[in-house]
Amino acid sequence: MTDVVTIKRVVDECYDTKTFVFDWEAEARPGQFIMIWVPGIDEIPMSISGIDGREKSVTVKAIGEATRAIHGFKAGDRLRIRGPYGNGYDLGRGNLLIVGGGVGTAAVMPAVTTTGADTILAGRTQNDIIMEGVATSHSDNVWIATDDGSRGFHGNAVQLMKEKAALKRYDCVIACGPEVMLWFTYQACKELGIDCQLSLERYMKCGAGVCGCCVMDDSRVCRDGPVFDSEKLAKLSEFGVSKRDECGRTVKFR
Ligand SMILES: Cc1cc2nc3c(=O)[nH]c(=O)nc-3n(C[C@H](O)[C@H](O)[C@H](O)COP(=O)(O)OP(=O)(O)OC[C@H]3O[C@@H](n4cnc5c(N)ncnc54)[C@H](O)[C@@H]3O)c2cc1C
Ligand code: FES
Repeated sequence: MTDVVTIKRVVDECYDTKTFVFDWEAEARPGQFIMIWVPGIDEIPMSISGIDGREKSVTVKAIGEATRAIHGFKAGDRLRIRGPYGNGYDLGRGNLLIVGGGVGTAAVMPAVTTTGADTILAGRTQNDIIMEGVATSHSDNVWIATDDGSRGFHGNAVQLMKEKAALKRYDCVIACGPEVMLWFTYQACKELGIDCQLSLERYMKCGAGVCGCCVMDDSRVCRDGPVFDSEKLAKLSEFGVSKRDECGRTVKFR
């Protein structure tokens, strides 16, 4: 179903990322996403980064034409959106450790605000850490990791996750970030004997399980994902290996 919503406020998260807050009556679950229509350019998927009753948000990193156009929107402008789509996270899997890498933090933030679980926020530098204020207002344990050591733990999200999991028993890791990070998160969880639920990104057109462009093996990422648990990830042969671009060409991760 398509809705038109009005942007209430825009929050600068960092040099290339902004959060757009709007009222929307739809029921949404942590980990779901919407399709945003950008007039004359494209329609693109965005995770729902905030769920507070009817108030929802998306957090957009400007990387191309559509996302740069969204960055030009101001309070009072209207957005045409469809959704919510996808399965979302199962938050009832015991003691959770939540990990957000870069703009992937947006997808896990509703899980943080709903559960108050221990959280790792990771980025290349201190300037890439987003949504820390929201996380610390809901969770007592928010840890920062930066690749260059400019803040917090000097290293990547997975290295810090392993350190934290050695100190405390977690039942499930919830994560979103670059696919290489998710691949190593999956491997680390296997070694540690912890379940995981990871949110994957694939090129999407319809967002609703119809067009088939987001297929991975027998799953449609938009409908059967974007969140997959350890058991399902084990059956996705392209996970951590490759994805298809907007022309259907294979792009390798490694
Ligand atoms: C389920 C899901 C949730 C997402 N959540 C967020 C989020 O919370 N915040 C955020 O900043 N980004 C998110 N993205 C990524 C975002 O959709 C792309 O960055 C955006 O579509 C890029 O569009 P562009 O025109 O600005 O860039 P382009 O120059 O067109 O593309 C840049 C990159 O984005 C990819 N891309 C372009 N269009 C799509 C599309 N329709 N579907 C998937 N990938 C695409 C391209 O393959 C390319 O790798 C999400 C993607 C998916 C699949
Ligand atoms: S985007 Fe069309 S089936 Fe997933």
